[in-house]
Amino acid sequence: MSNHVDEETLEPTLQNVLDQTSLKWIFVGGKGGVGKTTTSCSLAIQLSKVRSQVLIISTDPAHNLSDAFRQKFTKTPTRVNGFDNLHAMEVDPNPDMSELETMEGMEDGGFLAEISSSIPGIDEAMSFAEVMKRVQSMDYSCIVFDTAPTGHTLRLLQFPSTLEKGLGKLMTLKDSFGGILSMASSLMSGPENEDMLTGMMDKLEKLKAIVEEVNSQFKSADLTTFVCVCIPEFLSLYETERLVQELAKFEIDCRNIVINQVIFPEEVGTSRLLQARVKMQQKYLEQFYDLYEDFHIVKMPLLEEEVRGTESLKSFSENLISPYSHTSIKDLDRHVLELEVEQLKAKLHDAESRLAHYC
Ligand SMILES: Nc1ncnc2c1ncn2[C@@H]1O[C@H](COP(=O)(O)OP(=O)(O)OP(=O)(O)O)[C@@H](O)[C@H]1O
Ligand SMILES: [Mg+2]
Repeated sequence: MSNHVDEETLEPTLQNVLDQTSLKWIFVGGKGGVGKTTTSCSLAIQLSKVRSQVLIISTDPAHNLSDAFRQKFTKTPTRVNGFDNLHAMEVDPNPDMSELETMEGMEDGGFLAEISSSIPGIDEAMSFAEVMKRVQSMDYSCIVFDTAPTGHTLRLLQFPSTLEKGLGKLMTLKDSFGGILSMASSLMSGPENEDMLTGMMDKLEKLKAIVEEVNSQFKSADLTTFVCVCIPEFLSLYETERLVQELAKFEIDCRNIVINQVIFPEEVGTSRLLQARVKMQQKYLEQFYDLYEDFHIVKMPLLEEEVRGTESLKSFSENLISPYSHTSIKDLDRHVLELEVEQLKAKLHDAESRLAHYC
């Protein structure tokens, strides 16, 4: 069966991500609620075992790193409790422009705010570039991004190009009108205005350089990869295909798909509902294997409880590296059977006492 061949072709784990020590930026993305935060935290935990310093960043306005680790994080990297070399930060993708300007050291009358209103998406792009600049200057060997649901993620990856285009436009303006502008400003209120204009353009040139650098890093498969997270359902399969195609368009490397919330047949016991679910999931799993022969497809089990807190995340994260084993499921099966035996015993006891009543 093609299914088995495909499963054997590429390892069904994220070990390849751990092994590729050149990787600096790892994006984790997918549709809402499929398990992006759980997967990115799990991956960051595994990476922290093999890398010197790991940072996990959430760019989702809903900020769920704090929920997942049960620890409050802010826009400053904070060490995750229970780890020496894992830090987390939560970034606001809709920045306050005045704050951004202070960070940039541009206190010259809301200039960035003005640009932001003239080029759509540039404020988010600026804030993203600012984060990248800050992060790049820190000593992290690897940065994992827990991204917002699909639409948002793709916009985030477009930021470098958005910003580059916007800045390009400004540079052209500067080249065409720079001379006139500086002449006019020095005529009107002295040479300090000319300095201001030059300073502003210098800063923009610097920002542009960062953006170009980020752009080229994102497009290098040595440095950047994108891990898609999904669930074995029709809509998620469809969304994943869309995401994979968009990533290809942006020339961003993508070769791992994590399929979360998989119910393994061994787990269903006697539940008809679960049996039906498994059947449906198997259908979509086969389609994933057919479509993504050249991807590492990693199946993550649906657990009875939410994956929250360091210990749960640590244990869940093991499944990213060694495929889920069903040994514990046998225990679950035994438990279900034991319960059934108990129920049957109770029924038998009831029937016996009723029979005794008639005799
Ligand atoms: N395999 C699983 N088994 C049981 N619960 C899970 C599993 N994966 C994730 N969860 C739980 O499902 C919820 C959603 O997961 P998570 O927050 O990782 O999704 P998300 O894709 O980041 O969501 P959002 O799009 O809202 O950011 C969480 O409460 C998480 O603990
Ligand atoms: Mg999330």
